[in-house]
Amino acid sequence: MLNKDKSEILNGRKRIEDLENENSLRPQLLSEYIGQDKIKDNLSIFITASKQRGESLEHVLFYGPPGLGKTTLSYIVANEMNVTIRCTSGPLIERAGDLAAILTNVEPGSVLFIDEIHRLPRVVEEVLYSAMEDYKLDIIIGKGPSAKTIRINLPKFTLVGATTRAGLITSALRDRFGMTFRMDFYPPKDLAKIIKRSAKILNTEIAEDAVLEIARRSRGTPRVANRLLKRVRDFCQVQNEKVVSLELVNSSLASLDIDDKGLDNLDKHVMRVIIENYSGGPVGIESIAVAVGEEAGTIEDVCEPFLIQLGFLIRTPQGRKVTEAGYKHMNIDRKTGDQENLI
Ligand code: ADE
Repeated sequence: MLNKDKSEILNGRKRIEDLENENSLRPQLLSEYIGQDKIKDNLSIFITASKQRGESLEHVLFYGPPGLGKTTLSYIVANEMNVTIRCTSGPLIERAGDLAAILTNVEPGSVLFIDEIHRLPRVVEEVLYSAMEDYKLDIIIGKGPSAKTIRINLPKFTLVGATTRAGLITSALRDRFGMTFRMDFYPPKDLAKIIKRSAKILNTEIAEDAVLEIARRSRGTPRVANRLLKRVRDFCQVQNEKVVSLELVNSSLASLDIDDKGLDNLDKHVMRVIIENYSGGPVGIESIAVAVGEEAGTIEDVCEPFLIQLGFLIRTPQGRKVTEAGYKHMNIDRKTGDQENLI
């Protein structure tokens, strides 16, 4: 297996395989959703209140690293409100007309989910403002002196937006959401519950210590936990084992180059580039991206939040720096740059 493939196992970003996976493993109701208790409690109040008033829910924004359940929660919002959901994504809506086509077709009261909302083109975003605020669309037809503005009344709808970082969207758009929820990495105990639930759905028998080991190495991310569970299940099946044991988890994760803390090749490559090419930093994200051959956005969204959470990396105004703990984890002596043990 190529290193790149292996590193993608831990990459929180969505893949086709995840769509099938998530559809079957995805909880449908708030009561089935594990973790993020504060968000669930608040959402539950706001959903109940708007249902009691017979109104549609105000617009909702979810933000946080990939794989934490922003899409899942959006489906749950629609389900709990007993309305339909229509899903799209920022880069798919290229022109104001595309947005008009979507909005004029939404069912009254329904949810419109826009993933990667920070990637909406500016012209589309500006049309969205009046749609969110007044349920009206102002569309310009034609060009030059004969251009006309027409106003279209829209049914009331709930926009649910998702983004990896709230800082990526304009304050004008952010201000139009009635509620904003920041998703956090999950503690291992919540990931363990998610893994057990998924194992049951996948008909996989798994030992308690094996669950905890996958949970510990899933970088706080349910999508990663579910992916690792599925890969470990593959090893289990091919090796003719009946139950996923701790030994099997350890050997499978070693084959996938996933280390003790859940770091993959891309994370380790990022750390090594900063240490070896830039003496531990500070160094700008673009330079890191070029050196590891990845998009800066992937490193910023997928690797950095987790490396920062572990205390291996810090962001300074001058750029990214590897910490003492980061050097220690990489087994590299900070002063000499010598590798103490190959990992
Ligand atoms: N599958 C993925 N994320 C989940 C969550 N938070 N709760 C239950 N099942 C999940």
